[in-house]
Amino acid sequence: MNKKIKKILNKKNKSKIICLTAYSKNVASILDNHCDLVLVGDSLGSVLYNYKSTKEVTLETMINHSKSVRLGIKKSLLVVDMPYKTYRNSKEALKNAKLVMKKTKCDAVKLEGGKKIIPIVKSLVKNRIPVMGHLGILPQTDTKFTFKGKKLAERNKILRDAKLLEKSGIFSIVLECVETKLSKQITKELKIPTIGIGSSVNCDGQVLVIDDLIGLSRSNLKFVKKYADVNKIINIAVKKYKSEVIKKQFPNTQHSFKN
Ligand code: KIV
Repeated sequence: MNKKIKKILNKKNKSKIICLTAYSKNVASILDNHCDLVLVGDSLGSVLYNYKSTKEVTLETMINHSKSVRLGIKKSLLVVDMPYKTYRNSKEALKNAKLVMKKTKCDAVKLEGGKKIIPIVKSLVKNRIPVMGHLGILPQTDTKFTFKGKKLAERNKILRDAKLLEKSGIFSIVLECVETKLSKQITKELKIPTIGIGSSVNCDGQVLVIDDLIGLSRSNLKFVKKYADVNKIINIAVKKYKSEVIKKQFPNTQHSFKN
């Protein structure tokens, strides 16, 4: 088993697993100092490209961003999201996941869904492709983006799916906007680590979109905490640059070449 995956599995019930998304090298290299896992999420569709949904994200886009992220990662586990309609059956999933692994040198892929994708997950795992699961809100296929686990039937389904995915060989699972007590129950009943986003403190680890965390995006989602205001920092820097260019203070001799 991949050493980095083993390290993440070993953290269950011991210490929290730190995960964040990255879409490019420079950010990834900062996150690599602090994270156990860096995810190239297909959230890049809305965060970077203003797509209405992640459905529009292509395999090519995921591969290109992941190649860039790979350059910034030395120690963290690198996971890449398989985009919508790239894993509709085992054959398609295997072909595309192999391509992603080969081109990006990532450690694992992430797939959204429960019971329906079990044969696909089994086939990837059998072919030695490490898979991360994703339950709760499924941005690729859901139409309603409210938290999951309000009703008993829905709670039972999510718990059942989580157990099926675990049995199929996934090494970890993202729980997106899963109700607090349900995420606690899933985390307790699974041997593999759960990674929460909007799923309370009860998960084994947490993930957020980095642009939201640093205040670069304009996200106002309930589960996001803004730890910095990078938007403000960039504005101040660019304003100063503009003013210095206008006043001919930049570039000065220090930033110019002379024979
Ligand atoms: O696409 C993404 O960034 C994700 C995380 C939010 C878990 O799937």
